[in-house]
Amino acid sequence: MKALVINGPNLNMLGQREPDIYGRRTYDDLVQICQDAGRRAGFDEVEVFQSNHEGALVDAIQGAWGTADGIVINPAAYTHTSVAILDALKAVGLPAIEVHISAVEQREDFRQISYARMACMATITGEGLDGYAHALELLATHLKDAK
Ligand code: DQA
Repeated sequence: MKALVINGPNLNMLGQREPDIYGRRTYDDLVQICQDAGRRAGFDEVEVFQSNHEGALVDAIQGAWGTADGIVINPAAYTHTSVAILDALKAVGLPAIEVHISAVEQREDFRQISYARMACMATITGEGLDGYAHALELLATHLKDAK
């Protein structure tokens, strides 16, 4: 069982970026959390990808088709703008879970729309980096139940 964790723009700046909102833990910490939680949840492999570029995120989603069993995605700012990411998630048809580190529902109006959510089976917000661990647990449970 393999999970692909996809992270959008500016998440590579975790630790430095608006720590009052996103915390002090770094992108390397995020990768470690995903690897550890993925192993605990029963994944043989967890690949963690980040890009600041919308097309690269679309390519990563497409690349999951036939190579991964499910996707955890934090499209970051592209959450609120990208029909291309929504369409890619729909195209591959893999179970996907949306994660946001912050409680987006309590933030600005422009963060209230999520295109990616329309292709995701669940959304986790406001749990900090631990939200990724939560998402991997949900994804593993779903994949085991689907077998
Ligand atoms: C975010 C929330 C988005 O609104 C924002 O643009 C991000 C990070 C989060 O993880 O809380 O870059 O996706």
